[in-house]
Amino acid sequence: MPRDDSHLPHALQGLRLPMIGSPLFIISVPKLVIAQCKAGIVGAFPALNAREAEGEHPLLDTWLTEIREELDRHNQENPDHPAAPYAVNQIVHRSNGRLERDLEICAKHEVPIWITSLGARVEVNEAAHSCGGIVLHDIINNTFARKAIEKGADGLVAVAAGAGGHAGQQSPFALVREIREWFDGPLALSGSIATGEALLAARAAGADLGYTGSPFIATDEANADADYKKMIVEGGAEDIVYSSLFTGVWGNYLKDSVRKAGMDPDNLPTADASSMNFGQDREKPKAWKTIWGSGQGIGAVKSVGPASAIVDRMAEEYLAAGRKLAAEFS
Ligand SMILES: Cc1cc2nc3c(=O)[nH]c(=O)nc-3n(C[C@H](O)[C@H](O)[C@H](O)COP(=O)(O)O)c2cc1C
Repeated sequence: MPRDDSHLPHALQGLRLPMIGSPLFIISVPKLVIAQCKAGIVGAFPALNAREAEGEHPLLDTWLTEIREELDRHNQENPDHPAAPYAVNQIVHRSNGRLERDLEICAKHEVPIWITSLGARVEVNEAAHSCGGIVLHDIINNTFARKAIEKGADGLVAVAAGAGGHAGQQSPFALVREIREWFDGPLALSGSIATGEALLAARAAGADLGYTGSPFIATDEANADADYKKMIVEGGAEDIVYSSLFTGVWGNYLKDSVRKAGMDPDNLPTADASSMNFGQDREKPKAWKTIWGSGQGIGAVKSVGPASAIVDRMAEEYLAAGRKLAAEFS
């Protein structure tokens, strides 16, 4: 039976798999986004990944042209398997001095899906709506979820425990349940959704979509160091540490990368939120250059390969798991 996604905004309907390839700082570049969209899931990147040198044409503008042209070409050649739409992530934090300019560029390109992080603002939602886009705002608890919808976001990304990069601490089951008590709009769930079984569980819990990042680090298209990709392939949940030290926000990181930087991942001090900085000069201190983010779900990643292979694997697992459970209820 086809999936009923008629309650979702048009941009989120008809995906091959109900999934978003989540935005990854530094790692998500047009090559990866295009591969994700062609494979049939929403591909996303942070606007801040597109950094031009001083005085040069905005790289974000160039990237958005490249993505749109490549997806248009794909759609003309593959009318039966059109690409999924893409999303751009905006860090809505006072230290992001490019925000206004980036919003204008995204509105000019009529970006279909806008993902906002670290602050819900009415003007950002209005900019997205002015060009027909939808906004998904990421949150780590029910209070932030309510604020985001009050300020005009169309949907939510619930970032639960075990997610890569900045992550919450709440169980996905608790978080989705609390949100679903008052919100029936688009809801994606983030945190260790690295298998088709986990994606099915997210749907069963009440989410519309899975939101997956870390497995895509170990892909040919990802802009990541070969050692980083290897660490993802070799790691599992026990190799992840939750810390606020590196950005001022709590997040999950690979313990081995912390060790390589000369620190003990099991004895890290905490940092205060005032150390957050998402400006153009968002450079990590030298000792932290190689601190690598990852969620707990990487045990499912067995090799480095094309992004499409992850989508294919998850699609097969999703179908098999769905059929198995359906048999129980038939
Ligand atoms: C290395 C890394 C960088 C990330 N950068 C961003 C970012 O710039 N913006 C953002 O909204 N989320 C970012 N995230 C969070 C992801 O979008 C998403 O919530 C997470 O990857 C999902 O959990 P998973 O990695 O377990 O699949 C990042 C995650 C990782 C692992």
